[in-house]
Amino acid sequence: MPLPKAELHLHIEGTLEPELAFALAARNGVELPHADTEALRAAYSFSDLQSFLDLYYALMAVLRTEQDFADLADAYLARAAEQGVRHAEIFFDPQAHTARGVPLGTVVDGLGAALARSEERYGISTRLIMCFLRDESAESALETFEAARPYFDRITGIGLDSAEVGNPPAKFREVYRRAAEAGLRRVAHAGEEGPASYITEALDVLGVERIDHGLRCLEDGELVARLVREQIPLTLCPLSNVRLRCVDTLADHPLREMLDAGLLVTVNSDDPSYFGGYVEDNFRAVRAALALDQETLRRLAANSFRASFLDDRRRAELL
Ligand code: ADE
Ligand code: ZN
Repeated sequence: MPLPKAELHLHIEGTLEPELAFALAARNGVELPHADTEALRAAYSFSDLQSFLDLYYALMAVLRTEQDFADLADAYLARAAEQGVRHAEIFFDPQAHTARGVPLGTVVDGLGAALARSEERYGISTRLIMCFLRDESAESALETFEAARPYFDRITGIGLDSAEVGNPPAKFREVYRRAAEAGLRRVAHAGEEGPASYITEALDVLGVERIDHGLRCLEDGELVARLVREQIPLTLCPLSNVRLRCVDTLADHPLREMLDAGLLVTVNSDDPSYFGGYVEDNFRAVRAALALDQETLRRLAANSFRASFLDDRRRAELL
């Protein structure tokens, strides 16, 4: 039985399995450049973050209707339940859809419909986090933020993702300020491919409460001390880090070193369809590669609830 856990770093578009991609392509009359699911899977070989993002954005062409987004989220939740997930904080990339002419309401209503049924169907509580594409302009993020106001009852927080290097957190100062004012929670990808200074900037300029990845904090001892002192959660994604070549092999992953340093780290799947596994698969992979004992795995699972945006009552229930 997989340990009960929360998943805190999961891009819903990154859960699009080849089989569903082809089913949606047929349903929507979208032509994919790959012959079949096997050929598509064969394209899942990445040299860095950008080479993954190119395919990730291209495949989103099959997502068009509210039903598509509901089916996508429902398929993830069914898989997550099998992997012991009891709570999921789910990212989505509104700009990647609105730029293709899919209205924001279609995305939120579709995802929202699946999420609304999640506790009853799968025993998984959920939160939705809207991410801004950091390689798009600050103005585009602000426009997206304002367009999303009618949906804030279903959106818990904001995040920042896509191509990191050259797109520092400070570029998005204003949208994070508005999000704080609106009472939204704030997270950001930082220190995946980008330098440790982006983590510091995300904390100081954007006021984020959690860092997505944060791997490269290890290059700055003072930052590590601060992250430990303030118990800022880091949402690590080990299989993603190997596939995107942030680490050479899983055996080289600094997860154990980070735990030993007292960092509040969690294990997550990022884009499970692309990176070879859902969250329990990540747990199993690090257990094997880093020889983690059961107590350490339990600590990682407990960290996931601690680092979540759950209310205290459900957190206590799950811990
Ligand atoms: N979008 C989807 N997955 C991502 C990742 N690992 N890093 C940055 N942006 C992403
Ligand atoms: Zn991510």
